[in-house]
Amino acid sequence: MTVTDHPAATEAVIAADGRHVAHNYSPLPVVAAAAEGAWITDVEGRRYLDCLAAYSAVNFGHRHPRIVAAAHAQLDAVTLVSRAFHSDRLAPFCEALAGLCGKDMVLPMNTGAEAVESGIKVARKWGTDVKGVPAGRGTIIVARNNFHGRTTTIISFSDDDTARRGFGPYTPGFRAVPFGDADALAAAVDVDTVAVLLEPIQGEAGIIVPPDDYLPRVRRICTDRGVLLIADEIQSGLARTGRTFACDHWGVVPDLYLLGKALGGGVVPVSAVVGDGDVLGVLHPGEHGSTFGGNPLAAAVGSTVVDLLRTGEFQRSATELGKRLHERLADLRGRGVLAVRGKGLWAGVDVDPALGTGKLISHALAERGVLVKDTHGSTLRFAPPLVITADEIDWAVDRFAAVLAERR
Ligand SMILES: Cc1ncc(COP(=O)(O)O)c(C=O)c1O
Repeated sequence: MTVTDHPAATEAVIAADGRHVAHNYSPLPVVAAAAEGAWITDVEGRRYLDCLAAYSAVNFGHRHPRIVAAAHAQLDAVTLVSRAFHSDRLAPFCEALAGLCGKDMVLPMNTGAEAVESGIKVARKWGTDVKGVPAGRGTIIVARNNFHGRTTTIISFSDDDTARRGFGPYTPGFRAVPFGDADALAAAVDVDTVAVLLEPIQGEAGIIVPPDDYLPRVRRICTDRGVLLIADEIQSGLARTGRTFACDHWGVVPDLYLLGKALGGGVVPVSAVVGDGDVLGVLHPGEHGSTFGGNPLAAAVGSTVVDLLRTGEFQRSATELGKRLHERLADLRGRGVLAVRGKGLWAGVDVDPALGTGKLISHALAERGVLVKDTHGSTLRFAPPLVITADEIDWAVDRFAAVLAERR
């Protein structure tokens, strides 16, 4: 039996999805019923090796025992009071997360897009209150081919036509320059520039790693010109690339970290803007907020995630296993693979378009028990949970090789 057979239970769920779930995604025909570690089991009892990890939200594996235990314990205490009251969970979480980032303050939110929106608001407010840019004039420099989320403001500076078309009018105040080109970025800075917002490694664009001198140069430009550097580490951060933050590979410390996805341990949405008081301190009561942001359940889960990251164990796994993943994938160059990019357990693989679209290859891989996601036509993204083993990596890459061989 293969995923294309669509047996009854799978068929029924997919049909119900089609009737009742808005069609803003086009999922693989795999219906998850359970998951543990790096494995997902579907409603037919078939098992799949998860090599997507919910776009890096499941870095620690599905249902990591410590994260699940923390969530259970918090469910039995208190889950939500809004920010109208204090909770005994929020400050310990924010202190721990700020410590992990080497900063002193955290603005807790929920989704990644909210963290990005919040970072933009903080930068604009900092621009007017601290830098002295006239209100309404602050601009933010972004990179071409960025992906920062789906809100109206965020898609305003996307150059993905599918993500933008029909959703205008758009939010002004952004200037896009090529990713990886520090000279273009320097030339785009003017007196009204309040921030540079970047993914240190572009995820949705196909795991694009910039030249080694890029982020250090961007850091210097921002410092010299009095502009905030905002690193969107929502997908690249929290051990995915082998370091706590992707910026660490280049010794770069941004003014604001945007975090999300894995911060919620794959259990609840938890995101955050992390910075020092001279930047985050521009927010005063009533100027920004979120009913669920920093709720006790999220804070308990987030604190556990920070604890897990403090040991360095996941960063080490991502480095060691990432080497194996990249070596094995690189062996497929010339055998259906055109290029492999990335760092740690994060690989963008360009498949020869003659062998089929990325979507087609990911369907064929799902039939063989490996879940990956395509992006931009013929690029596949391998980003397994960091608890995957070396043998499981070999198993997945062997199946990928077989799919490529079959189509050549
Ligand atoms: C770099 C980056 N920023 C922001 C987001 C948006 O996160 P969310 O989907 O939780 O809103 C994503 C999601 O893929 C992302 O990769």
